[in-house]
Amino acid sequence: MVAGEAGEADKVGEPGEFVLPRYMRPGPGNHPPLDFAPYKATKGRYPTKPLVLLPHRLTEVTGPLLGDGLISMQDADLTTRYAGEPVGQRIIVFGRVLDSGGRPVPGTLIEIWQANAAGRYAHRVDDHPAPLDPNFDGAGRCLTDSLGRYRFVTIKPGAYPWQNHLNAWRPQHIHFSLFGRAFTQRLITQMYFPGDPLFAQDPIFNSVPDPKARERMICAFDLALTEPEWALGYRFDIVLRGPAASVFEADGGHQ
Ligand SMILES: [Fe+2]
Repeated sequence: MVAGEAGEADKVGEPGEFVLPRYMRPGPGNHPPLDFAPYKATKGRYPTKPLVLLPHRLTEVTGPLLGDGLISMQDADLTTRYAGEPVGQRIIVFGRVLDSGGRPVPGTLIEIWQANAAGRYAHRVDDHPAPLDPNFDGAGRCLTDSLGRYRFVTIKPGAYPWQNHLNAWRPQHIHFSLFGRAFTQRLITQMYFPGDPLFAQDPIFNSVPDPKARERMICAFDLALTEPEWALGYRFDIVLRGPAASVFEADGGHQ
């Protein structure tokens, strides 16, 4: 699973050594640059020296395997883990993982993490003065099925302040991580909600150069996914590469 195209990096390795194909970072437009001044924390994070290309040898791409025996159905439901129900708007997030040809990608491990309905992460470094929810930890995971489909039941996250600039608030979002066949094949993105008034002032959302690519980070409200008297449905398909590719982060950083 990759976000770029096969390239010269195929040649990395000792003479005669068997090295599997690897992929290069795609060109500008779709993905945020490593250094983006309006997002202040990137200054201390992005690499300032040339990247070291690590060849994907047989070991890296064959293990450890992400076995479906380790993942239960309950991992994809963030609303039923604790004694009580979490506070907030219950939502269903459904979609498919597709390759550049529109073919489904089965067996992909998807992990999500998010703030609770009040905009607070259940994490030790989040000291934003909003309440924690004892019935919500904000983390979930599932494997795509044979048709590349996934489905989470969760709570719509709240916006939260993050001190990047005066009155900086992150739009409501859910973080997504996708693994391919092994831990070396990982892509990270964020899913946003339609019509969020905070888009215009958010440097993370706007670090993606192409406006059409930014649109692909926004899920769609879907009445067909919505379940009566129970939960709103949102659809978010993820395309790994090609003209309709989703936006992926370079280094796994996030706010
Ligand atoms: Fe976040």
